[in-house]
Amino acid sequence: MRYDPFTPEATKLVLVLVGLPARGKTFVSRKLARYLNWLGFSARTFNIGDYRRRKLGTHHRHDFFDPANVEGNRLRNELATAALDDMLVWMKGGGRVGIYDATNTNAQRRRQVYDRCQAAGLDVVFIESVCEDPSIVEANIRETKLTSPDYEGMNPDDAARDFRARIDHYSRTYEPVTEEDYAYIKLIDVGRIIVMHGIRGFLPGKLVNFLMNLHLVRRPIWLTRHGESDFNVQGRIGGDTSLSPEGHLYAKALSRFVREHSIRPPNVWTSTLRRTIETASYLQVPSMPWRALDEIDAGVCDGMTYQEIAQKMPQEFDARAVDKLNYRYPRGESYVDVVQRLEPVILELERESEPVLVIGHQAVLRMLYAYFMDKRPEDVLNMEIPIHTVIELVPGPYAFEERRYSLSVSDLDGPVGMGSAMAD
Ligand code: F6P
Repeated sequence: MRYDPFTPEATKLVLVLVGLPARGKTFVSRKLARYLNWLGFSARTFNIGDYRRRKLGTHHRHDFFDPANVEGNRLRNELATAALDDMLVWMKGGGRVGIYDATNTNAQRRRQVYDRCQAAGLDVVFIESVCEDPSIVEANIRETKLTSPDYEGMNPDDAARDFRARIDHYSRTYEPVTEEDYAYIKLIDVGRIIVMHGIRGFLPGKLVNFLMNLHLVRRPIWLTRHGESDFNVQGRIGGDTSLSPEGHLYAKALSRFVREHSIRPPNVWTSTLRRTIETASYLQVPSMPWRALDEIDAGVCDGMTYQEIAQKMPQEFDARAVDKLNYRYPRGESYVDVVQRLEPVILELERESEPVLVIGHQAVLRMLYAYFMDKRPEDVLNMEIPIHTVIELVPGPYAFEERRYSLSVSDLDGPVGMGSAMAD
């Protein structure tokens, strides 16, 4: 069952992207969708480029986008309308946040989108991405556009030239958002400056906070569980026990892994529980304990084995098996509670441009992993986060890439880190 943090009467929201090509609109759209879905708001992006490729193919060169191309204009308007229609149908059917990922660079087009959303009872926030730094635009063209199906098999320099010509067509008719009656957020030079107009309410405020933390720096995020603890050995959940002898060996192996894989010392974040702090103690860098990273609170079941819970509290055991996402341990927490308390950690992980090593726990790491790998929390509730393994996540152009290192604790003189790239 899906949880929904909205109250039933809450307004639905449409986010309308605005900006020239290669200004990161799709990057922002996907980030927003991932964040919102993770929080439990059902969100979906409607990308006009995808509509064009699906309906008309991938063969269009820059002159298709020339405002003087009458047939091109007609087709592009048709596609924009088709995507908008689909989004409105989806919102009517239960979607909470629709993300309309198109250039929307002309005021008349924006007015049409706005009027149709208003008529459907939807709030609208425009998100305009402005970037005049040619090096950022060029990097975006090289990283994302040249690998698009639009330019498959084409020489990269010819493709880049064609894409720049496409941008020029849009630039000639571009009208930045200044409409007084709209709510809008302008992101200038990847969030170096953020301008807001008419933004109010719970969700738009949350989105501004999120957008403020985005950047393009490529850095690894390492997720690992603490080394094996005494409770792990006994099969007991929760608690605040120390590391087992094997756990100490893992902590040493982890310290070596970090030395070998990081050019700069990473930020190290632990929970406030002993087993994560002990794991970090072998690293030669300071660590920061976060209460938000503590393991799911098993309440009255803390310290028990799963068998003991099944025998002594069969109703609780069954209720959790039926709806693990929403089930809250008596006097403890549910996974939904965990997601909510992890939100500040996500914002900090997004904001941080240096490597971060998070030493956490199984339930908490499942939820962090779900966010970065664009999975719904309910889909990873039983995913194993193996002990003595580092999960490395590195941002690619639109998605995080994953690699796992299973660290050998039996032979500390041998090589540390049997890396394996995970196909996702
Ligand atoms: O067993 C280790 C552990 O971290 C427990 O402390 C915690 O309750 C459990 O994993 C979370 O996993 P699940 O939600 O599958 O019970």
